[in-house]
Amino acid sequence: MGAKVSLIIFLTLLIASCSAKRKPYTPCKSLVLFFHDIIYNGNNAANATSAIVAAPEGGNLTKLAGQFHFGNIAVFDDPITLDNNLHSKPVGRAQGFYIYDTKTTYTSWLGFTFVLNTTDHQGTITFAGADPIMQKTRDISVTGGTGDFFMHRGIATIMTDAFEGEVYFRLRVDIKFYDCWSY
Ligand SMILES: *[C@@H]1O[C@H](CO)[C@@H](O)[C@H](O)[C@H]1NC(C)=O
Ligand SMILES: *[C@@H]1O[C@H](CO)[C@@H](O)[C@H](O)[C@H]1NC(C)=O
Ligand SMILES: *[C@@H]1O[C@H](CO)[C@@H](O)[C@H](O)[C@H]1NC(C)=O
Repeated sequence: MGAKVSLIIFLTLLIASCSAKRKPYTPCKSLVLFFHDIIYNGNNAANATSAIVAAPEGGNLTKLAGQFHFGNIAVFDDPITLDNNLHSKPVGRAQGFYIYDTKTTYTSWLGFTFVLNTTDHQGTITFAGADPIMQKTRDISVTGGTGDFFMHRGIATIMTDAFEGEVYFRLRVDIKFYDCWSY
């Protein structure tokens, strides 16, 4: 009995000391990019880069629903830039969707791919995860990649860099790969 208790105490201390000593992980590659979402609002068809494609009962496809937009789904094809300027030359497109999925605050579920085609970067990076929009920074999973990002995985820290009503927002995406496949 006494031996069992001391074994448990020993293991608890061992686990505690191991987690205390864990070093921060070091990324094998990092990349910071911005993307810009202009939401269709009924009179910006030429300029819009995203569209509401689903709304809950009582809502419509030109205005985000009440109750923290719960039930809205938007599909986007957004320009990606190297800096925070909407008018900078795009280096690719962010393509995917977001789903507003909480009735009591603003959160969404993001699933999208960065399609990059420049001399610096060619290939795709795919992201998925929960986006608690009201938090200053949010981490989502980088689930995979192709081309220059063949078999890459990691974490992306997302920050809302600008927000203009329900028409425009800009996200800063700080990508850190911890798994970089290379020859
Ligand atoms: C497109 O929409 C954005 C965001 O609302 C705005 O800043 C920009 O001036 C618009 N561009 C044109 C050509 O209307
Ligand atoms: C969509 O809903 C909003 C708010 O309820 C309303 O102001 C707008 O006129 C509706 N748009 C259409 C096209 O029905
Ligand atoms: C990438 O850009 C080049 C040059 O503009 C073009 O020929 C090629 O089709 C593009 N590739 C993809 C996958 O879009």
